[in-house]
Amino acid sequence: MDYLEIEGGYELKGAVKISGAKNSALPVIAASILSDKPFEITNLPNVVDIRTLLKLIDMLGGKVVHSNTTATIDNSSINSTKAVYEIVSQMRASILVLGPLLTRFKHCEVSLPGGCAIGQRPIDMHLKALEAMGAKIEIQGGYVKAEAPKGLKGAKIIFDKITVGGTENIIMAASMAKGATTIVNAAKEPEIVQLCELIQSAGVEITGVGTSELTIMGTDRKPLEFQPCKIIPDRIEAGTYLCAGAITGSTIILEDVESNHIKAILDKLESMGSTIKIEANSITIKAPKKLKPISITTSEYPGFPTDMQAQFMAIAAIAQGESIIEERLFENRFMHVSELNRLGADIWLKGSLAAVHGVKELNGADVMATDLRASSALVLGALAANGTTKVRRIYHLDRGYDNLEGKLAQLGAKIVRKKE
Ligand code: EPZ
Repeated sequence: MDYLEIEGGYELKGAVKISGAKNSALPVIAASILSDKPFEITNLPNVVDIRTLLKLIDMLGGKVVHSNTTATIDNSSINSTKAVYEIVSQMRASILVLGPLLTRFKHCEVSLPGGCAIGQRPIDMHLKALEAMGAKIEIQGGYVKAEAPKGLKGAKIIFDKITVGGTENIIMAASMAKGATTIVNAAKEPEIVQLCELIQSAGVEITGVGTSELTIMGTDRKPLEFQPCKIIPDRIEAGTYLCAGAITGSTIILEDVESNHIKAILDKLESMGSTIKIEANSITIKAPKKLKPISITTSEYPGFPTDMQAQFMAIAAIAQGESIIEERLFENRFMHVSELNRLGADIWLKGSLAAVHGVKELNGADVMATDLRASSALVLGALAANGTTKVRRIYHLDRGYDNLEGKLAQLGAKIVRKKE
């Protein structure tokens, strides 16, 4: 198994290019199921989750030509509507094929994703919304079996809670349903906006894009014909590199980044003492000598993203004073705490709150990655720690960070991938 060996304490410098957003690319790939024409996607990140979803499309009978950052998908040849456990268990986001398969083919079977390292993560709201659109759904043998013999029909969906994946599944299902679907309490993430714009590029009318109420006029099962799609920059990857600059006291430049998508992250870095310079396509962060403590509560976009909570905990670990971090989205997203403490951090947990007492220095140790963002927090801690840190189980990182060690090494970090 691969691990990362990091010698900490080096300042970073130079520029890093931000890749396309994994969490935008996944729904865009799933949306390809709505089309029976070849569809080109560019600026894909080179990460395992993208390859996993493309493999699922291939298993459904679609034709996929993929090279690094580009994929052309032709889903005119889909001959199966079953998303098997072997794939879904590797990546929960496979559930995003449920809405598109059901609306186009009137039936499908998708393995239940089950829980994961950060929480239970049920899909009840996805299923309830599809039922409101006329689907009959049963859970049998670990699979969601869904059918809508007359096709899905438009409905008014009111989500009890904001759900990114649920909103994406219903936007896709609604795009080929009969009539209008209104989603109330919709998610507003940039990834949702990109999905809406893709579907609009096929001539589907969507109002309220980027707001919490979306109305989608379905095509009554006429497949969509998309314009080529360039994936937006990954705001969480960008945030992670900004934290790498902050934790190492460095000045670095991020290129190919969208500053409007990361305002909450930039605000927090500024309150911790960093200077941020925003230009057309780039952001420069200049870190202070000593970071100030911070108070963070995660929330839905445009609030502070849960996907940046672990990385900010790493930088708070060496801030001067006590930081408070509250995780509001996932009930178990603190697995990095005990590992950061192994590096010498002083973090205490009570329910959904973490109190981070800033320490003077971190020291290298062997640590274990538990989920994607927790893993990146350990890499950040290691960059600032004295001596050598080994980060194990980095397959979590490979799922969502494009060439993390290569990009950090280019910035001057002492980081190498090794095999056990
Ligand atoms: C997306 O997950 C992201 N994944 C996550 O990023 C991100 O952490 C999350 O949104 C929140 O921003 C992708 O985009 C592929 P949700 P998703 O449905 O869609 C509860 C990363 O590190 N809920 O918005 O699964 C749920 O348990 C990943 O890149 C229900 O109760 O998240 C959670 O508490 C991790 N019932 C909350 O809602 C449902 O039917 C928000 O989840 C659906 C969700």
